Amino acid sequence: MEKIVIAIDGYSGCGKSTTAKTVSQLLKYLYIDTGAMYRAVTLYFLDHYINLTNPKQVAKSLAEIEVEFERQGDSENSAVFLNGTNVSHRIRSMEVSDKVSEVSALAPVREKLVAQQRKIGKRKGVVMDGRDIGTVVFPNAELKIFMTADLDVRAARRQVELLERGQLVNLDKIMENLVKRDQLDTTRSISPLKRAQDAHLIDTTHLTFSEQVEEILNLATSSMVKMGHHRKITQDN
Ligand code: DC
Repeated sequence: MEKIVIAIDGYSGCGKSTTAKTVSQLLKYLYIDTGAMYRAVTLYFLDHYINLTNPKQVAKSLAEIEVEFERQGDSENSAVFLNGTNVSHRIRSMEVSDKVSEVSALAPVREKLVAQQRKIGKRKGVVMDGRDIGTVVFPNAELKIFMTADLDVRAARRQVELLERGQLVNLDKIMENLVKRDQLDTTRSISPLKRAQDAHLIDTTHLTFSEQVEEILNLATSSMVKMGHHRKITQDN
């Protein structure tokens, strides 16, 4: 089967990452969580008290930051490393969640991370999730998905996710964070979150996890078949 790039975008907390991860495992594709990259940069800025309104400080810090993904032994989960340190847990804190939309609105931050994401995607056979993957990072991706879900469902799912990581966070606080991030992510001037014209819309409010995964896998198979036909036609001519 032809290998494709699958771009998954959507609002905060509608299950993009968990769905994308499972789809990538089933297809034996590489999974890249671009939100984790923005979160790692945010963590660095917080740890080093970087003033986001000081372009020199921001540029200097970006030059010092290296974000990498690494497979953890036999586990399917890939860990996020910031300058060699595993920060997979720290990047999920509410402190980072509260600041990440502000950091990801900065042009130099996006330039650095988008360049890295495009480099990774060159190899095809990638599932990448984020906010601008189908619109900016890979506008020619063979399959684009835009995921959405009702706010209360998203908040409840995020609360369970945090609980599983040992953090008990009030539901109202989670909702407030999701609303604030959606607002910042959709209205920022550079690469705002929006559905690409050719993206398939998937509303996960009433879907089970396996239904979500199945829907994307079905679309992926059709895209691979289409791509195979297309290649055959161009080769035959
Ligand atoms: O997917 P996430 O919730 O972990 O993403 C964290 C934040 O990073 C999100 O609020 C917006 C930003 N982000 C972005 O601007 N562009 C991406 N491609 C991915 C995430």
